Amino acid sequence: MQAPGRGLVVVALLVAAGCGDDPPGAPDAAPSCPGEAPPAPPGLDPAIEARVDALLARMTLADELSQLHGSGLAAVDGLWVTPDVDALGVPGFHMTDGPRGVTAGPSTAFPVAMARGAAFDRALEEAIGEAIALEAAAHGADVILAPCINVLRHPAWGRAQETYGEDSYLLGELGAAFVAGAQRHVIATAKHFAANSIEDTRFDVDVTLDERALREVYLPHFEKVVKQARVGAVMTAYNSVNGAYTSENPVLLRQILKDEWGFAGFVMSDWVFGTHSAAVAVAAGLDVEMPAELAFGELRAEAERCELSAAQLDDAVRRVLRTKLAFGLDAPRAVDPAVIESEAHAALALRAARRSMVLLRNEGGALPLPADAGLDVVVVGGLSGVANLGDVGSSAVTPSRAVTPVAGIAARYGADRVTHLPTDVLDDAALAQLAAADAAVVVVGLTADDEGENIPGRPGGDRETLALSPAHEALIAAVAAASPRVIVVVEGGSAVTMSAWVDDVEAVVVAWYPGQEGGTALAELLAGDVNPSGRLPLSIPVDEADLPPFDHTSLAVTYDLWHGYRWLDRVQIEPRFPFGFGLSYGDVTYEAIAIADDTLGAGDVVEVTVTIGSVDRIGDEVVQLYVEPPPGAAERAVRELRGFARVALTPAGTATARFEVPVASLARWDADADRWVVDPGSYVVRAGSSSRSLPLAATFAVAAE
Ligand code: GLC
Repeated sequence: MQAPGRGLVVVALLVAAGCGDDPPGAPDAAPSCPGEAPPAPPGLDPAIEARVDALLARMTLADELSQLHGSGLAAVDGLWVTPDVDALGVPGFHMTDGPRGVTAGPSTAFPVAMARGAAFDRALEEAIGEAIALEAAAHGADVILAPCINVLRHPAWGRAQETYGEDSYLLGELGAAFVAGAQRHVIATAKHFAANSIEDTRFDVDVTLDERALREVYLPHFEKVVKQARVGAVMTAYNSVNGAYTSENPVLLRQILKDEWGFAGFVMSDWVFGTHSAAVAVAAGLDVEMPAELAFGELRAEAERCELSAAQLDDAVRRVLRTKLAFGLDAPRAVDPAVIESEAHAALALRAARRSMVLLRNEGGALPLPADAGLDVVVVGGLSGVANLGDVGSSAVTPSRAVTPVAGIAARYGADRVTHLPTDVLDDAALAQLAAADAAVVVVGLTADDEGENIPGRPGGDRETLALSPAHEALIAAVAAASPRVIVVVEGGSAVTMSAWVDDVEAVVVAWYPGQEGGTALAELLAGDVNPSGRLPLSIPVDEADLPPFDHTSLAVTYDLWHGYRWLDRVQIEPRFPFGFGLSYGDVTYEAIAIADDTLGAGDVVEVTVTIGSVDRIGDEVVQLYVEPPPGAAERAVRELRGFARVALTPAGTATARFEVPVASLARWDADADRWVVDPGSYVVRAGSSSRSLPLAATFAVAAE
């Protein structure tokens, strides 16, 4: 991606780097520079390693170096490629984005990751990971540049839509699910490692974090995706962390990711401006420069000057070869083009849209709005007639078709019952139509012009405010003054503050960027065919000032333990709509919680059972489990999400959710001891329907280590 004023540098780099060709006849063995070999990751497949050894033994230095960078600044048929070594049968990579579908050509446009975060549904996310991977493979790719699992530290972050929300546990669970599904067919890429939560300054900002904030908030989800899902690739971020660019940060890449976590795959840079050195970066743990040989043009010379040990160079090449062989890139791949935009994937996108939309307000039974009662509905707003799919940056997906809000509503309610006012400015005639109709559905929110990847020359980037535009707030006010029943639908990839108007309307639905089937899902939810079950993966404050400040201009920022619900709980500020919140049609009762064994050690697992009953609910409830640590040696979050389960309910039925919480996952990082510590004492487990509605509680004791 191009940053301002750097194009010339890129051209200069390409010219200076040349192509790494060797003078004729020069010996081309890798230099035998001394240096300790990095520890081998655990759990390797000996057969794969033997094949890697055999390839390395036959590779020239040019062959080895060719494996450590992309082939060029331009994608080839929509794919980012890396060199192969034809003589040895080593293929290059073929990479494509992104988190909401395949960018290389027409593909199914799923709801954005933030929407799927609201679904709180591991099985759904695994299915979407597999579907996107199938379409990626059908487009010729073997690497998908997803999932993005960066923390939504502040809702104004321009790329909020690409991640699953503000909570590390939710990010890790859904990121691991995506990878599990995707890696049945291609190599997945956990990105952007790490602490990438600002867009406007992303290329240059230095994020300072102490060890606790890094370990407890900004890394655990990456660790889970590495250890639990065994992701094949990790993409570094553009920013630096504690003074070192992430692409040349030995603490992040070598010490934590590779040595401590045992990551066995390869680390790639982010595009074009993600690298700042060659031997220094490889020694720190970067393996592949994308999308071209830029800074790595110096690698041969630096390696020959032993600025990099043979073992470090070998480790980088070994990781690339290991991943290629482990995922079968050297074998013929049977792909089925029919999977691209298949009916099954459209149905999955519809399922995701149904489960991700969040009902925030429903006064006076405004919803469901019966579709077969002859009601007249006005659908209003400039966004009501467009397919608002999200960012147009690297995560953009172009489906062949998409259902707009008004198309979905007209199909469900009958075109003769729906009046469409595709405008944000209403004249008297429009106001009269609103007054005469039974209900109004107002579609407002954000578009790629308001938020998205920071691409020079394009709007987007971080948001200056969390509020809707003045035009959208004025539209809501006008409709509220004219219509007897107002349902506001908010599209976008992140939180929108609503205090200025929310109490003046009957119902509010957050639809996110709902994907190609969003209009159908919205109509089904409004009509009551589908019971809303989405829950907020982020906090919506009363006022933006209630959140920690969002600095998207400085080039030096500090992150700590506090953001989102962790912050609001700490400072005891009531959010307008809390993390985990969402309404449904019909009520449930939280009836009982039980812990199998309430005296445990640090190596044990807490087994919790929660029983809920349906009063008159048909549909799913997302049962949430939060744990409150004992007062201890260090300040900690009041409570943290440590479990969620989507359970199906029938009227007057009951459902049981079972959770297993490893006590070790409740540890805090002790910077003095430089290790995780499980505080002894009494822990409280709470269960409920949001971070602020936790009617059930139980306690367990952890013995001193
Ligand atoms: C961009 C993004 C990254 C994306 C890559 C390739 O700069 O930061 O998420 O995968 O380029 O498009």
